[in-house]
Formats: sequence, C-alpha cells, structure tokens
Amino acid sequence: MNVIGISGLDNSVAFKRREFPHLDRRDYRIAQGFDAAAALVTDEEVAAAVAEERFTGEKSTGAFPRNAIRYCLEAAGLEPGDVDHIAHGFAFMPMPFYEAGSLEQRRYDEVYAPEVTARRTEDMFSGWGSRFVSVPHHIAHAASAFYLSGFDDALIVVADGMGELESLTVAVGEGDAIRVLRRYSIRQSLGILYSVFTLYLGFEMMMDEYKVMGLAPYGDPGRYREEMRQVITLGDGASYQVPLLAHNAPEEWETHRGALRVLVELFGQPRVPGDAIEDRHRDVAAAVQAGLEAAVFHVLEHFQQASGARRLCMAGGVALNCTVNGLIADQGMFDDIFVQPAAADDGSALGAALHVHRTFGRGERRTRMKMPYWGPDLTEDAIQSALQARRDITARRYDDVGELIRLAAERLAAGQVVAWAQGRLEFGPRALGNRSILGDPRDAKMRDHINELIKQREEFRPFAPAVPLESASEYFEIAEGKERYYPHMLFVAQTRPEHRNRLAAVTHVDGSARLQTVDEEENPRFWALLKQFEQITNLPVLLNTSFNLRGQPIVRDPVGALETFVVSNLDALVIGDYLVTQANATR
Ligand SMILES: [Fe+2]
Repeated sequence: MNVIGISGLDNSVAFKRREFPHLDRRDYRIAQGFDAAAALVTDEEVAAAVAEERFTGEKSTGAFPRNAIRYCLEAAGLEPGDVDHIAHGFAFMPMPFYEAGSLEQRRYDEVYAPEVTARRTEDMFSGWGSRFVSVPHHIAHAASAFYLSGFDDALIVVADGMGELESLTVAVGEGDAIRVLRRYSIRQSLGILYSVFTLYLGFEMMMDEYKVMGLAPYGDPGRYREEMRQVITLGDGASYQVPLLAHNAPEEWETHRGALRVLVELFGQPRVPGDAIEDRHRDVAAAVQAGLEAAVFHVLEHFQQASGARRLCMAGGVALNCTVNGLIADQGMFDDIFVQPAAADDGSALGAALHVHRTFGRGERRTRMKMPYWGPDLTEDAIQSALQARRDITARRYDDVGELIRLAAERLAAGQVVAWAQGRLEFGPRALGNRSILGDPRDAKMRDHINELIKQREEFRPFAPAVPLESASEYFEIAEGKERYYPHMLFVAQTRPEHRNRLAAVTHVDGSARLQTVDEEENPRFWALLKQFEQITNLPVLLNTSFNLRGQPIVRDPVGALETFVVSNLDALVIGDYLVTQANATR
C-alpha cells in the first residue's frame, strides 16, 4: 500500500488577509496550516518526504504541496494511480454553534473543510479526491513519533500551537494503536503561550520560538516569578491553566492583542523588532522558558506515574524545544525517549501517512527511524550542469573521495567556512550533514564570522556541534545508554567543562550544546570528514549550521547550493564529488 501524506492549509493566510486587511505584517503568521509538506509511506519504508518551502523558497509556506507531492512520486517511480490513499494531517469538523455567514463558518468553508484540500488533490490528479482521508492533527503528530520510534509501547505527548480543538494531547501507543488519554484545549496552549512571548520579544511568531529558547539561558528566571503566576498556573493532577490567553477577547485571537496588553502591564513595553536586547528581555525569555518546562514536567510526571510507561515519544512544535527535551533526558524519568525530528507541521504530513498506512495497511516492522534523508538527491548530472552554467566559480572533481575529504578538512582546520552538500535532503528543520555549512568550533570568533557571512542572526544563539557517535560522551555529558538520543539535534547536553575552551563556538553561555551525533553507517562521508578533522586538530567536532541564506529555506538542489555559496561568499563548497571555490579566490 502506498500512502501520500500532506500538511498545510492552502488558503489560510489569504483568507486572513482578505478578512483582516489592516493587521501588522507579523499578525498574518497567527494562522493555521503552515509548513506544507508531502511524505510517501510504502509497505517497505518512508520512501520520500520534503517540505514545499524547499521548492518555492517561501519559508514555512502553507501552500498546497504540489511540488513536494510530485517529488515523492518521482522518487519512488510511482504513477498517481499507484497511490492508494492521500492523508491530510488535519480533520476539521463544522461546529453546530457556528452561525451562518459568521467568520468561523466562512473560515471553515474556505480553509478548514476537508473538501477544500480534497478538491486540490483532485485538481492535481484525477481520482485522488475520492482517496482523500482526514487525520486528526494530533493523531498525525503522535503517529509520526510512535510509529518511527521502534517502541512496542510508549507514552506519547504531542504539544503545539493548536490542532483542530486541542493544544496538547497525551496518549499511549500500544502495538498498532494510539489511545488518547487526555486532550488540553486551545485556551491552554503552551505553544501559543510561547509564541505570544516570541511576538512580545520582537520576533516572528511560529518561526522564531527557538530564538527565545536561545535567549533564555542569559536571563534570570527568578526575576519575574511572581508575574508569571498571572501567565500560567499548575493545578491538581495533570491540569494547568494559561490565564494569560483568557485576556484575548474572541476577535483578539487573530492578533493576541489582549494577551500582549497583559504582558505590557507585567513586563513593560514590548521589544520593537530589530531593537537592542536588554536584560529585561533576557529575563522574560528565561521566565517563559521556565514556565514551559514546569508545565511539561507537571504533565509528564502525572502520566508517567499513571501509566507506568518507561518510554516516551514526543512531537508537535513544542517538542523542538531541545532545552526541555534535554531536561527530560537528564531527569531519568524514562528509560528511552524518541522525538520526531520533523516535530512541527511538516511532520504531520508524515504522521498522517503513517497513521493511514497502519490503519488500512498491513502491520509493519517496528524499528527506529534512522536519519531523515528523505528529500531530493543530488545527481551527478544535475551537479555538472549547475556547475557549467556559472562563470563565477572554479570546480574540480575528485575520483578519490578520501582526497576530497582531506582537502575539506584542511580548509576547515585553517579557519575556512565550508558548505557541504551531499546525498538526499534532510526532512525537518535541521541540516544534519547533507545540506550544512561547517566551521571550526574552537574559536568563538567563528560564530561571528559565519553570522556575518550568511546568517545575520542574533548573536546570542550558538551554533550546534556535530561529533562522531563514538566520541560524543568524551566531549559532552551524556548518560550511559542515552547516546542514541542525539542524532537529530533535538536534545541539549552539557559540554564537558574541560573541553569548553576548545568548543567555544558551539557551547552556549550555560555550558550547553545542541549536539548532533554522526553514525559512520548513516552518513559515512560526514563521519569521515569529522575523523579527518580530528587527524589534523585532535578534535573530532565541527560546527554545523544549515545551508541557507537568512530568512530562506535550506537549499535543495545544485543550482540553489551554488547560488547561496556565491552570494554569501563562503570559502569552499563540497558538493557530491566536487570541490568548488569562488572564481576570484586567492586561497
Ligand atoms: Fe501541529
């Protein structure tokens, strides 16, 4: 059985623009249905998965994923008629209390109704409309984690901004089934809470939450403890409330103006985007991070005890908070944890497909997913023709890959910034060694240098380290038996104090690092590069960040890789078997 899963709500932002033409630019991100993607699940495997943004260039677009769907079919050599089901990671239902002609009813009719997306699939390929299945949003997220975890049973926690009606779902996975234990409403959304603070702190909602997480370790979570009681409260059992969101009048859920007004009363004027970051902002970031941590632990502790579960699966945008994940790992409440690397809504496409495949297909093998290298490949032909089309680069092909890797490692050790494009594109928000920019982690200045070249990021965020799996616990504090948590850059761990000096560009102010372990079998070239770098420097660690320009998605194909390489004036690019430098390069 072949199942295509999709995510996104094509018309969501356009609808909001039409209904509310005079909002601030940032308010149009307060909507459902971003991160459109497509994934293909066959009887054998996850055959392909990619986000639509990688084709259109519009970051986190919710546009109908026609390019992503086409790619999935192509990658597996399937015709549209070979697809048994098209699964969408939303299942909205009309509410009986919607008044005819009301905003809610119009939004349902034009954006949310399953028929709207089903029609898009039918427009794309005749016959698909009748094979369309709606999967409840949190079930899709839960499936994306549990069915790829390799666990026979586990507690599952899904937390995001919102699904159809809920913001957090606790479930248990048993064999081929997912049984929901509890749902928390949108009015107590931890995801929205964090996003409103993101907005208050002058960043983009549902995009820049990781910046707030990066800022938090600089702040004092104690300074606003009293104020935070008006933001979030924990109750009996696993209950909690988010009184902050209750200040939104019904129409203010489009802008969160009511909640933002209260934040101004509690913490002072909001930060204007681009303005300097002050101590107050750092303390607010620390306060909301602490609030999130407390709520997540409150829920986890209750359900861990109630269910006796020893394994945990997580998904939903909140599961990208690798500080929280790191704390859960450290706490030792669970023997094993799996977080779906595409935890945001791109992963709901994958989860929808997995759920439908489990429901209608045969039972599958239950092994843990490896690296999500499920996107478009770099073919020799495509690399060659992209290289030939440019006059502003010099390229040389190496038959001896060992030689190519040695040259790249030498450049890195000499302080150069090297882009690294190999094999299939990663699914999910992180570059995991196939579309990466790499640098020497020893010098803290490397951080500023890369920021200047390409990222133009806020300087408070450190980059992430990549390290061979077998060396990870030598450099980072990883408990025995937990080494397998770290291949997807989803958990922070402490850099060992004796190595912090040598890992200055990838260690945060609180001593933590968002590390990625690299398995020789999973990514032999990247692993070999780390080992070669170790030969030269005695340190098997590289700084790894995603290969993209600021505000743009990670590059997909050779044309995009070369364009980004040239525009940002990086020192070298290793793409396939080629070493590329700028035509005017002196080194
Ligand atoms: Fe979601």
